[in-house]
Amino acid sequence: MALQDGYLDELTARSDIADVVGSYVNLNKRSGSNLFGLCPFHGEKTPSFSVSPEKQIYHCFGCGKGGGVINFIMEIEGLSFMDAVAFLAKRAGMPPPDDGTPNEVKNKRARLLELNKEAARFYYEMLSQPEGKAAVAYMEKRKITRPVAIRFGLGAAPDGWDYLLKAMRGKGFTEKEMFEAGLIKKSSKGSFYDTFRNRLMFPVIDVRGSVLGFSGRALGDNEPKYLNSPDTPVFNKSRNLFAINLAKKCQDGRFILCEGNVDVVSLHQAGFTGAVASLGTSLTQDQARLLSRYTDQIVLAYDGDNAGIKAAQRAIGIFEQVGMKVRVLRITGAKDPDEYIHSYGAAAFAQLLDDSPNQVDYQLAQIRARFQLEDEKSRVAYLNEAADFLSKRSNAVEREVYANRIAQETGISADAILLEAKKRSSRKAKQDKKKAERELMRPAQAIQPSGHELRYSDVVSAAAEEGIIRLLLLDPSLSPMTDVLGAEDFSSPFLYKAFRIVKKRIQENASLTPASLCNELEPQEAQHMSAVLQKPERASEAQRAMGDYMEKLKTQRLRRQGRLNPGALADLYRNKKGYGEH
Ligand code: UTP
Ligand code: MN
Repeated sequence: MALQDGYLDELTARSDIADVVGSYVNLNKRSGSNLFGLCPFHGEKTPSFSVSPEKQIYHCFGCGKGGGVINFIMEIEGLSFMDAVAFLAKRAGMPPPDDGTPNEVKNKRARLLELNKEAARFYYEMLSQPEGKAAVAYMEKRKITRPVAIRFGLGAAPDGWDYLLKAMRGKGFTEKEMFEAGLIKKSSKGSFYDTFRNRLMFPVIDVRGSVLGFSGRALGDNEPKYLNSPDTPVFNKSRNLFAINLAKKCQDGRFILCEGNVDVVSLHQAGFTGAVASLGTSLTQDQARLLSRYTDQIVLAYDGDNAGIKAAQRAIGIFEQVGMKVRVLRITGAKDPDEYIHSYGAAAFAQLLDDSPNQVDYQLAQIRARFQLEDEKSRVAYLNEAADFLSKRSNAVEREVYANRIAQETGISADAILLEAKKRSSRKAKQDKKKAERELMRPAQAIQPSGHELRYSDVVSAAAEEGIIRLLLLDPSLSPMTDVLGAEDFSSPFLYKAFRIVKKRIQENASLTPASLCNELEPQEAQHMSAVLQKPERASEAQRAMGDYMEKLKTQRLRRQGRLNPGALADLYRNKKGYGEH
């Protein structure tokens, strides 16, 4: 990224985080110098989402999301870093950023999209050629009508090695471009051939209408059944959904997530125009967030097999995290929505949708299925699990409704069930409070970042490394004390990177705030940094604390290097007396 010097600092200075967040979240509570509101990134009833106008960062104590104002916009608008910067610049009345993407790269993306569009057009045209006959016959077999095929832009990849290759060459595209788009492959002898052969082609189109890639269905039993474009500079399977370009226009709010492309096509054909599918991967947060831009309710229409049930359980959690309501379709008498519609018709499917239980009903039913309610022992076990499940729901009305239902099933009073659930939730709340208090004390051990790449290998050292960064932000005049620190003193490469950024900003006399630090970090790093910076340090004791942290780094480094022998230990303790630790 090559933004002009100072551009981000000016942008963050002009985008007050309380203002920006305030236009999405009602920050109507205050505690100390922080503002609190309901977290927009996970469903909750009591506010644990905090904004610090002083530090210009936000942090959710519930789900751990956090960062500076740019991270907030990235997260809530589903934008890339550069797009979020552009978004805020517009809001702040600043000139748009020069994103530093070299024109070559921009042009290349544009070229690949152009190529994909031409390829989609080619496949589509093949439907009316002799080469597309098999695909047309297959569509007929699957009862896909012509108008729907047109709406989806379906097409036929002919049964040959270089139909597409030749056609695209004729349009002026190079083999290199086709290879990068995943449309052709290279044989061991070095010659190129079409990736998709003898398949029914489903273009994957994004919300702007660009063709990002393809999914090709085998026309017979050949393997693989579906072949997808590889990830390319313009296509990322985990961030897109098949048919989102059509579903985003869905008016009746019935968004349906299926497993298969053909399910989606059948549903649209039957009038359920909110159907989408993830592209042969399990649901990701990015996909859930993409959907949440258009709806706050989704029905899961996964296959009824074990894999489908598992996938549904997982998807419920992901959708709840982005604050969506989830219902789960229960298909009986057919293996998937496509088969169901063809056997029973659209009206029956609409009924199925109406009858589909919400996530709580669904999950309770899943729990219930594991017990025999006639058996007393088993019934008690069920009650305990159900109470535990209820205790995790934050909505009191919801808890009451379900307690009554469980009461009817088991013959135990609803009050007893609610009491048990309450006991469990207050026990949990107490534990959480204790944990939060412990974390607020200067920690002996750091809390692991949620991202796997950021994991701390030495939590004791990491806690001190975090402290050094906090203190430098609090009191940059302590910086010379830390001049001796090098990469080997830090156990966490991520914290070392943050340390270097802070030092550089101090040297250059650049603005030094939590937000300016977050601006230079990757989103996941910024998120963890917001938690790190949330912890207090006292200015009055900063110098002494810095000494303690430096000492800790040194001991831990020696320990990691296996050089902490009794002699060295004695030396350290002698030195330590100066700081009066223990
Ligand atoms: P299914 O095998 O359930 O697909 O896989 P389906 O849509 O029901 O298949 P047919 O056409 O009706 O027989 C679900 C999805 O998983 C991905 C595809 O996106 C498919 O739609 N998939 C499946 C693959 O990517 N590769 C495969 O080999 C199989
Ligand atoms: Mn199917």
